[in-house]
Amino acid sequence: MCDHSHVDMKVALVILSLVGAVFGQLPTPCNSPNQWEARERVVEYGAKFEEWHKVYYDGSSGRERNIAEVEDGSTRDFFDILTLYNENKRYMINMKTKQCNVTAINRPFRHRGVPPNAQFSYAFTLGATGFSGQSITVQSFTANVTFGTFHEEYFGMVTSPSCVPVNNFYYNPSEQTKSVVAYYDLTVGISDPMAFVPPPQCNSS
Ligand SMILES: *[C@@H]1O[C@H](CO)[C@@H](O)[C@H](O)[C@H]1NC(C)=O
Ligand SMILES: *[C@@H]1O[C@H](CO)[C@@H](O)[C@H](O)[C@H]1NC(C)=O
Repeated sequence: MCDHSHVDMKVALVILSLVGAVFGQLPTPCNSPNQWEARERVVEYGAKFEEWHKVYYDGSSGRERNIAEVEDGSTRDFFDILTLYNENKRYMINMKTKQCNVTAINRPFRHRGVPPNAQFSYAFTLGATGFSGQSITVQSFTANVTFGTFHEEYFGMVTSPSCVPVNNFYYNPSEQTKSVVAYYDLTVGISDPMAFVPPPQCNSS
C-alpha cells in the first residue's frame, strides 16, 4: 500500500505541476537558512522505524548532529550521531553504553532545505485561509540526488518566502526505502557551540 501512496503522490505532483506551468513562471529553488536547530520526527516505512531527535544543521559546511530522544521504558538502542560530511566522518555514540565508533559516510549530504538542482512542484497553504495569522504558504520541490551508485528522490516542503523546511520525503528505488522527516520548533542559528565538536569518548578512534 506504500507503493500506491507513492504513485498517487506522483500523479498529484504531475497534475499540480501542469497547473503551475499553465498559470505562470515556476519558482526556482529558494535558499533555506544555512544553520538552524529543531526537533525532527523521522519515520522509515517498511523498517517500522519512528524516532524523535534534536537536530542541529549546518548546510554551509555539511555538518549535522542528531540526538535521539529516548522513549521512557524503551529497551532498544538510541544514538547520538554527529556527521561531518566535509571530513567524511560519522561519529556514532550508543546512548546506553556510551560507546562511540567512527565510520566513513557512503551517502551524499542531505540538504534539509531545497537542493540547488530541485524543481518546483506546487504551492499551497497550511492551516485556515481567511483567519488572520492562521495559515502559512508552503512551496514544494522535487529533486534527484545521486552520489556514485547511490540514488535518492527528494520531495520537500518549505515555508514561503523564508524557505524554512517543513518536511522532507525521501525515496530510494534500489533500497526500496521511503522515509519522512518532519520539523518542529525550528529556530534559525546554532545555540550550542559544541554541537559539531566530536564528543570526547570518540577521541581514541
Ligand atoms: C558502529 O556502531 C553501530 C551502532 O552500534 C553499528 O551498527 C555499526 O556496525 C558500528 N560500526 C562499526 C564499523 O563498528
Ligand atoms: C527523478 O527521477 C525520476 C525517475 O528517473 C523521474 O521520474 C523524475 O522526473 C526525476 N525528477 C526530477 C526532479 O528530476
